[in-house]
Amino acid sequence: MFVVVGVTGGIAAYKTVHLVRLLVQDGHAVHVVPTQDATRFVGIPTWEAISRNPVTTSVHDDVASVRHVALGQAADLVVVAPATANTLARMAAGIADDLLGTTLLATTAPVLVAPAMHSEMWQHPATQHNLRTLRSRGVRVVGPEDGPLTGGDSGPGRMSEPDAILEAAYAALGARRDLTGLRVVVSAGGTREPIDPVRYIGNRSSGKQGVAVAVAAAERGARVTLVAAHIEADVLAAAATRHPAIDVVTAGTAADLAAAVFSAAAGADIVVMAAAVADYRVSAVSEAKLTKESARQVPEPVVSVLEPVVPVPEPVVPVPEPVEGRTLELVETPDILAAVVAGRAPGQTIVGFAAETPAEGESLVERGRRKRARKGVDLLAVNAVGWTTGFERDDNELVIIDSGDDVVAEAAGTKREVADALWDAIVAVRNATAR
Ligand code: CTP
Repeated sequence: MFVVVGVTGGIAAYKTVHLVRLLVQDGHAVHVVPTQDATRFVGIPTWEAISRNPVTTSVHDDVASVRHVALGQAADLVVVAPATANTLARMAAGIADDLLGTTLLATTAPVLVAPAMHSEMWQHPATQHNLRTLRSRGVRVVGPEDGPLTGGDSGPGRMSEPDAILEAAYAALGARRDLTGLRVVVSAGGTREPIDPVRYIGNRSSGKQGVAVAVAAAERGARVTLVAAHIEADVLAAAATRHPAIDVVTAGTAADLAAAVFSAAAGADIVVMAAAVADYRVSAVSEAKLTKESARQVPEPVVSVLEPVVPVPEPVVPVPEPVEGRTLELVETPDILAAVVAGRAPGQTIVGFAAETPAEGESLVERGRRKRARKGVDLLAVNAVGWTTGFERDDNELVIIDSGDDVVAEAAGTKREVADALWDAIVAVRNATAR
């Protein structure tokens, strides 16, 4: 999640350091926006070190990236802690003469404020009026608590503790945190098996669904290793730059993917194999580019014949018959999922994906059931693919089958929505087996 933490000029700013740390630990990308006054309590180097992101108070820094609105637009949540009486008044009036002010006006994300001030200021009708105004606009308020204040006096006005602010932040998001403390491995994308230095056997997987599964897991509290095979940079950026709880490991071939998955799976609670793994590779990769000339010189024996999985459409324009052919000898790649299942650690949950092209009259679910049993996974997420469905798109449809052959969920929607439905099913299976 992309979280903006606004810090305003109160002594409680020191507690916000811990809040930022908790948010970072939970895997969120945290951007701190202090007011000029706040930096008198906690300095910019502390915020940068703890949030691991650059920090500025000014709308005039980094103008090229339109920072004064960019942070607010990117935010999934804005937390202002501490929120002084002055800040609440400025927010109520919509004043935007610093970076926090512009960020708050530019955002449509939920906003949570954690007020901190002396009791008299808190109880003043002006402050209470500003709070009502902010609440009427949907701003959430956590605290303040009743207790000792900075001057030795006591009463309402103490900023809530970081844990309580964090809880309120998650409540504001309606976020599920049911994977907290779990280690998850997600493979995504499609492997490529080289034929020669120029060509490869690949597939159409964009990695979008697998990345969505990884991002959803991180946002639900897991520590994630995303094993990414040939995923476009912009698709991968959704995981790599926005979620510090996701470690990305790249893999090229099925063998690379196998090594990365086995290594990450060793300490994992859950493994989700969403990658489209090539089932075959050439038996010997040619060091030199294969040419038509070389094919004509050396006739190669036919070693394996593969049925095409997908029917090739009739060409519209008649294509001349090729005069010469070439046969590549293909050998099977290792079944990574089967190996992970065979080496399953106690309590580990293993989930597979299956992209199927059911024949006319054949049931997708029946096909999925057979594959789930063959793979021995706890859950299999099955989707129908075709020339125009499943791949490279932003939406998807899944049927999720469990080890009792039951369809436990049918999900349709954006790949992120489908990912959340998959995690709901995984959490349910783990709860049912008390893992
Ligand atoms: N898979 C794997 N290793 C392979 C092939 C597939 O781990 N060499 C995983 C995929 O990541 C996926 C699941 O197995 O989670 C099902 O993939 P699929 O290609 O449908 O399985 P296959 O066993 O290859 O079945 P089919 O012959 O129908 O392609």
